[in-house]
Amino acid sequence: MTAAAGWPVEPHSEERESDGRPTRAHPPRIALIGFMGSGKSTVGRLLARRLGYRFVDVDERIESRAGMSIREIFAAEGEEAFRRLESETLEDLAGEERIVAAAGGGAPVPVRNREFFAGAAASFYLEVSFEEFLRRTGSDPARPLLQRGTGELRSLYEQRRPVYESLGRRIPTEGRSPKEIVEEILRVLGRSR
Ligand code: S3P
Repeated sequence: MTAAAGWPVEPHSEERESDGRPTRAHPPRIALIGFMGSGKSTVGRLLARRLGYRFVDVDERIESRAGMSIREIFAAEGEEAFRRLESETLEDLAGEERIVAAAGGGAPVPVRNREFFAGAAASFYLEVSFEEFLRRTGSDPARPLLQRGTGELRSLYEQRRPVYESLGRRIPTEGRSPKEIVEEILRVLGRSR
């Protein structure tokens, strides 16, 4: 899997078990990617708590950076400005450690952002079907892309799927609770020591 190219990494030297052994070599950053409505934030919060990592919602970081909501950024400055902020935010996050980052659905698409997901981070692709995405998101006004027609959204979904697959370990989400999804991610991390 190309996503794991820079990972697993050596444990931080200061991290030791009580008997002096290094702790398990968890990656410095864990990224959750996937289409809107795949549960990245819910799963990310839970996963961060289990690992003792900080949870970072990339969209919230973008909002504080811009001093505006995602909806306002799209309305006032357009998608291109939003994508610029998104790339800058990811570049900043690449300097942070012990974080679980939930990325917006479009974040893995620009080539500029791929290093974040395929470098030292372990990326997990939370997979949701197109139909389930529609059910889960409805017409949420906080997500400007949902103003697009179903056909356009479906082709966006199809275009992005191979990008997600190439960057992240695929984790099916349907019919599973956030807790079950977290357990699977933890199992994968444990196996990858
Ligand atoms: C987007 C997804 C959103 C947010 C923005 C654009 C996308 O995040 O970043 O509205 O391009 O798919 P979620 O995936 O968390 O909804």
